[in-house]
Amino acid sequence: MGKDVIIALDFPGREQTFAFLDKFQDRKPFVKIGMELFYATGPEMVRQIKARGHQIFLDLKLHDIPNTVKRAMAALSALDVDMCNLHAAGTVAMMEAALEGLTRPDGTRPLLLAVTQLTSTSEERMREELWIDHPMDQTVLHYTELAKKAGLDGVVCSPLEAGKVHDRCGSSFLTVTPGVRFADGDIGDQVRVMTPAEAKRIGSDYIVVGRPITQAADPVAAWQRCIDEFVG
Ligand code: C5P
Repeated sequence: MGKDVIIALDFPGREQTFAFLDKFQDRKPFVKIGMELFYATGPEMVRQIKARGHQIFLDLKLHDIPNTVKRAMAALSALDVDMCNLHAAGTVAMMEAALEGLTRPDGTRPLLLAVTQLTSTSEERMREELWIDHPMDQTVLHYTELAKKAGLDGVVCSPLEAGKVHDRCGSSFLTVTPGVRFADGDIGDQVRVMTPAEAKRIGSDYIVVGRPITQAADPVAAWQRCIDEFVG
């Protein structure tokens, strides 16, 4: 797997999703299915999108006891997704169990990424509510190291953190980065953003792009622009 653009299919149901995917005709972008679409439409939707030839990042951010996560991951792996994720806060034991569950009888498995701290959590809330006293950047890198220790393939992180993650864990440890906007685009509710070209320069392996593509007047052209800027 090389550098790629992953489109966030943040749609409420199957109709809107297929209307969007139909615009791409014979092109098959890598897509992300998150909680909204998955909980609304279920595993059958994943199978159908896969059958159309797309690679899929199933973004369900699992976090439970190791045995439950292991068994849930086995069910997701059977859906033949390409990438999935969990919360590093579930501990190394949970991450190791997840990898076991994901590994298919033939030894193959989807890529597994960790969420370190959600970007919606501020350092202040982390200290006052979660009782984590370390600074945010140190906490993110510590959780990243735990993910690497557990044998995961990488982390989901801000594009601004991708360089530090690679410095700490090596260039082959994947960074998947949302928060991407075109230089001439609307940033919406994202706070810290980067263009696809900047994300390429700092070494992101995959960028996750939602509204700049899904809400564009011409989504296929917007996706192509991301590919041109990021993959080159
Ligand atoms: O529309 P937009 O490009 O902001 O969509 C970004 C996608 O990445 C959304 O699906 C969002 O939930 C996800 N995401 C994010 N920031 C994170 C983790 C995931 O924006 N820290």
